[in-house]
Amino acid sequence: MTRGQFITFEGGEGAGKSTQLKRLVARLEAGGRKVVATREPGGSPGAESIRELVLNGAADRWSPVTETLLMYAARRDHIERVIRPALERGAWVVCDRFADSTRAYQGAAGGTDPGLIAALETYILEDVRPDLTLIFDFPPETGLQRALARPGAEARFESKGMDFHERLRAGFLAIAAAEPQRCAVIEAQGSLEAVEAAVWAAVQARLAVHG
Ligand code: TMP
Repeated sequence: MTRGQFITFEGGEGAGKSTQLKRLVARLEAGGRKVVATREPGGSPGAESIRELVLNGAADRWSPVTETLLMYAARRDHIERVIRPALERGAWVVCDRFADSTRAYQGAAGGTDPGLIAALETYILEDVRPDLTLIFDFPPETGLQRALARPGAEARFESKGMDFHERLRAGFLAIAAAEPQRCAVIEAQGSLEAVEAAVWAAVQARLAVHG
């Protein structure tokens, strides 16, 4: 059985990732593929319980290092129970956020030692690495307004201040620049249709998808 492809969606707050993820999943399924759509932190029952802990409460409830460990505890459960089994049975996995969010939020913006994050990637991700990562780039001022306007927003990270969100944007762009084979930057300011077309063009070009 050919292993499925693993696609991750990344970027700051309110860039429209989740809407675009649904559109991509629909297109991939229309082409006859089995697709598992999932998200982080979360995606398995245990990881969703950790999500409750980490996304709610005061901005300083957890330090960046503690957040890193919580994200990786959630991620390992998600990999063991959902992502790896799906890829092994040949399904495609499309995940709303993954390891680059830890590099950007806890690392570039939060100040966690990149050495700790790299070690966790080695020991916790093992060979479960994205084949393609779409990095949604969007101005943080507008993104934060959008994210905070959502009903029931889990607002811990949104409340961290504009400096944090500027470092975050720079962090994601640095990841894309360092790993151009894996990452495509999606300019997320256009219309829904224009962004959808950019996502589809990246998937077709990078993963040799024809319909
Ligand atoms: P969402 O709003 O896209 O559902 O993402 C949940 C929040 O979790 C978002 O503010 C980013 C944050 N996050 C991290 O800080 N580190 C991580 O590793 C992940 C996956 C998410």
